[in-house]
Amino acid sequence: MCGIVGYIGPRCATDVIMDGLRRLEYRGYDSAGLALVPRAGGQVHVIKRQGEIETGLQRGLQEDPPRFSGAGIGHTRWATHGPPSDDNAHPHTDCTGSLAVVHNGIIENYFELGQALREEGHKFRSEVDTEVIPHLVETHRDAGADLLEATMEAVRNLRGAYALAVVESGKGDDGEALVGVRRESPLIVGVGEDEYFLASDIAAVLPYTRNVVILENGDFALLTRNGYAIFDESGQEVERPVEVVDWDAEDAERGGHPHFMIKEILEQPAAWVAALQGRIGDDTVYLPELEYTTGIVDRLSQVYLVGCGTSYHAALAARPQFERMLGIPARAEIASEFRYADPALGTDSLVVFVSQSGETADTLACLDLAKQADAPTLGITNVVGSSLSRGVDDVVFTRAGPEISVASTKTYTTQLLILDLIAGHLGTTRGMREENAQRMRAVLAHAPDLPGEAERLLDDQEAVLGVAGYLAPWEDAFFIGRGLDFAAAMEGQLKLKEISYIHAEACAAGELKHGTLALIEQDIPVIAISTQDHLREKMASNVEEVRARGGWICLVTDRPEDRTAAIADAVIPIPRTAEVLSPVLVALALQLLAYHTAVMRGCPVDKPRNLAKSVTVE
Ligand code: M6R
Repeated sequence: MCGIVGYIGPRCATDVIMDGLRRLEYRGYDSAGLALVPRAGGQVHVIKRQGEIETGLQRGLQEDPPRFSGAGIGHTRWATHGPPSDDNAHPHTDCTGSLAVVHNGIIENYFELGQALREEGHKFRSEVDTEVIPHLVETHRDAGADLLEATMEAVRNLRGAYALAVVESGKGDDGEALVGVRRESPLIVGVGEDEYFLASDIAAVLPYTRNVVILENGDFALLTRNGYAIFDESGQEVERPVEVVDWDAEDAERGGHPHFMIKEILEQPAAWVAALQGRIGDDTVYLPELEYTTGIVDRLSQVYLVGCGTSYHAALAARPQFERMLGIPARAEIASEFRYADPALGTDSLVVFVSQSGETADTLACLDLAKQADAPTLGITNVVGSSLSRGVDDVVFTRAGPEISVASTKTYTTQLLILDLIAGHLGTTRGMREENAQRMRAVLAHAPDLPGEAERLLDDQEAVLGVAGYLAPWEDAFFIGRGLDFAAAMEGQLKLKEISYIHAEACAAGELKHGTLALIEQDIPVIAISTQDHLREKMASNVEEVRARGGWICLVTDRPEDRTAAIADAVIPIPRTAEVLSPVLVALALQLLAYHTAVMRGCPVDKPRNLAKSVTVE
């Protein structure tokens, strides 16, 4: 998500903050800004620009050079609300311009809060959720609270997961103060010699100090020139240990992990929380983003789900759910094929585009095609302001945070979750059979537990490591599954081949005997996925077919106690959840498998040969 830096001390705050922002730019890169406290008091000096730091904010500093300041906050943004622009860039200020706020995360109730504040006469200048915060703090400041108390009061009104840094212009050096808040999103305090830092990542402060306090959920930090203090949620001052970090700067960018891919795999529980936040509750899906689609859903007679690579696999997994919930035919389509397939699109065809980047050329070409046919269009993307998000009738963001590794991980699993929510929402609007309503209720009941289940899976990687050890010397591998497990197999094989360079292919398990079985020879690795109750016996037979030809079987299953697991050579157990959601947990296991195998083979995990993160050419 976004990056936050704050500084108070004897150095030039502009230099320290700019340096920190450059180190955090990998977290977000559509705009950046800083707010500096003038020594003489008065308004904070805010400079913010759309674009990358070097071309945007750095130029802004040349156009509007700040005076020397020893306290300030900075932000590099990855948009979630409001497209990238100078106005939407952080920091955001109150009406008087004497306090400024930067924010990482989402304020769910910003709309209601904004309305109330506007009615009280507060003036807003942007479209972003963050802007309610400085106005709320201002209200409590006006009522006589100091900056810390006012921030604590303001935060009581906020719903969501976030980290904040607030700075206020005091009178002279003594009045300067920074306040940090941690609610789910990470925030640390860097402790230097007579200088103190706030940052969303340790990477930002490493050149200045290796002593850091990792704030706990609900904590507030108050930083002045005289020191720092931490307060818990109830406002009680608390001690938090100062930890000494021994990472080098490059490790720090990856949160101490050897690759972005593993960092992003591990971020999935948090990404799922963000993706689901405010979108489910009381057996209901809340997706106000679907305003247009909801209005026309009754006239639909078919749905196309279009994407490339991993995003196509998300479409493949969601297809049955769309067909069931909406009660009309749904098809998953590869964008590079669909664009030339002369599809029978019309005003009754909903075309759903799935794209992490929102910039994939083939997917955008399909969007043009849909628009020419006047078909309603819906986008699912991770990038606010992307071409896809701007071109479709409705867009739902996956909120996974920036993904740096070429191999998609957290953006894929958040796509799966969002697609399930959309199918449920549209199906409810159209009206669905009771058995499908039950299915949807099961999804809504189990989805909030997924992050916890993922944590358990991520904590114990022994089984996955064992299978990776077996796979690593091979040059071929097969993935088999039925129904949703076939979609999961497709993604599993792509992940393995793109980063480990092992030739991998997925086969619908029932299709084995129609050709692929000819390739199954002694000890060849076959990853069999079985999570769907109504297909379990059929899968068991397919596993037997492979075994009879001498294949080495790894069973990925939510029923490790079953007979099929007993005949497999290895088992990767995954937690049991609603059947529709199982591809999310299977994906996690197969991402880890691909990752560890690639590492064992010495492959350049984050940048596989011949591939690019965003494919903007045909
Ligand atoms: O940005 P998109 O989701 O549209 O990208 C489509 C594919 O290029 C992408 O999903 C690719 O297959 C993955 N990065 C592979 O892990």
